[in-house]
Amino acid sequence: LSRASFPKGFVFGTATSAYQVEGAAASGGRGPSIWDAFAHTPGNVAGNQNGDVAVDQYHRYKEDVNLMKALNFDAYRFSISWSRIFPDGEGKVNQEGVAYYNNLINYLLQKGMTPYVNLYHYDLPLALEKKYGGWLSSKMTELFADYSDFCFKTFGDRVKHWFTFNEPRIVTLLGYDGAQKGKVGIVLDFNWYEPLTNSTEDQAAAQRARDFHVGWFVDPLINGHYPQIMQDLVNERLPKFTPEQARLVKGSADYIGINQYTASYMKGQQLLKQTPTSYSADWQVTYVFAQNGKPIGPQANSNWLYIVPWGMYGCVNYLKQKYGNPTVYITENGMDQPGNLSRDQYLRDVTRVRFYRSYLAELKKAIDQGANVAGYFAWSLLDNFEWLSGYTSKFGIVYVDFNTLERHPKASAYWFRDLLQRH
Ligand code: GCO
Repeated sequence: LSRASFPKGFVFGTATSAYQVEGAAASGGRGPSIWDAFAHTPGNVAGNQNGDVAVDQYHRYKEDVNLMKALNFDAYRFSISWSRIFPDGEGKVNQEGVAYYNNLINYLLQKGMTPYVNLYHYDLPLALEKKYGGWLSSKMTELFADYSDFCFKTFGDRVKHWFTFNEPRIVTLLGYDGAQKGKVGIVLDFNWYEPLTNSTEDQAAAQRARDFHVGWFVDPLINGHYPQIMQDLVNERLPKFTPEQARLVKGSADYIGINQYTASYMKGQQLLKQTPTSYSADWQVTYVFAQNGKPIGPQANSNWLYIVPWGMYGCVNYLKQKYGNPTVYITENGMDQPGNLSRDQYLRDVTRVRFYRSYLAELKKAIDQGANVAGYFAWSLLDNFEWLSGYTSKFGIVYVDFNTLERHPKASAYWFRDLLQRH
């Protein structure tokens, strides 16, 4: 496997998100987000940890960009902290925040790296949560469009690849806002669902899982309506697109980003009618992680993350076959180590090297068979703040000493450096 195994122009990068790496939570004029409030509420995050400092990328972005460069990456997918730009979510602009992203973008470009910018990665400005009730309010569509519009206007002369991480309806708005010839897509988490057996029930269960998790967003973007199975099962609780909305949403994404980590077997199960009801009153699915006693794959540190390289092939091939081969980015892929290893164990992450080698081989197989994949981003450049797990789950290809914040590339980082070298 080498860079040359992938199509010409294929992009390799790493991915992070603002709250997970930036730190400087209360400096540079940044307003609080819902994650600051949540992480500061005792009992929510492992060890009551938070992203106040994280890996301090806000102050160390040059060092991090230099690292990416030294590891031969082409691109960096990061997210913008909405409340760093608009401390209250709307209204007054924080120029220091704007300057930070300008500096980061300019430095990336100066080093020959392409920015892929995500507008929203879970960190809603707290003020919007308090004032409007956050995403439950339809006012958010307008506010998100205003914020995105500001980002397009401010950074769009240099940023040509955007992700919204949001609902197709919102993507539509943005897609039509003309981002200075930039491209806009959405990021979905897509873990592969494989029928446990050949039975009709299990096959239907796996298909339902794909439709409910991925079709929910991709069907409207490609076909202008929700998957049939959702229409049947969710019924009148599923909002209907007006013909105008359907027309706008269809074809509005320039590409689809998928975060691909793992896979599970799906077992179909008919429930009794009187079961306390869920959206699918008649049928449910069960996730199973072994087939005939054989585990689907070894487990990483996170209990949801089984290492299943063929799941990558499953997802990519599925998007090709089911949706007419849209342009796809793998926007995240990676595995974690636990929080309590020695530095030496972190640095010798042979399992992660194997993980990347095998997942990329499956990705290459799908591409060789015609799947239209434009790029791949490893999650993550650095060990960072892993949401509910705090700093007890380490996804980085670069180790961070959280006492000194020093960065040290792990074996997997050197593996990428060698994979990506140009001859
Ligand atoms: C996401 C993720 C990332 C995680 C990563 C590992 O959905 O984009 O939550 O922020 O850190 O997927 O769990």
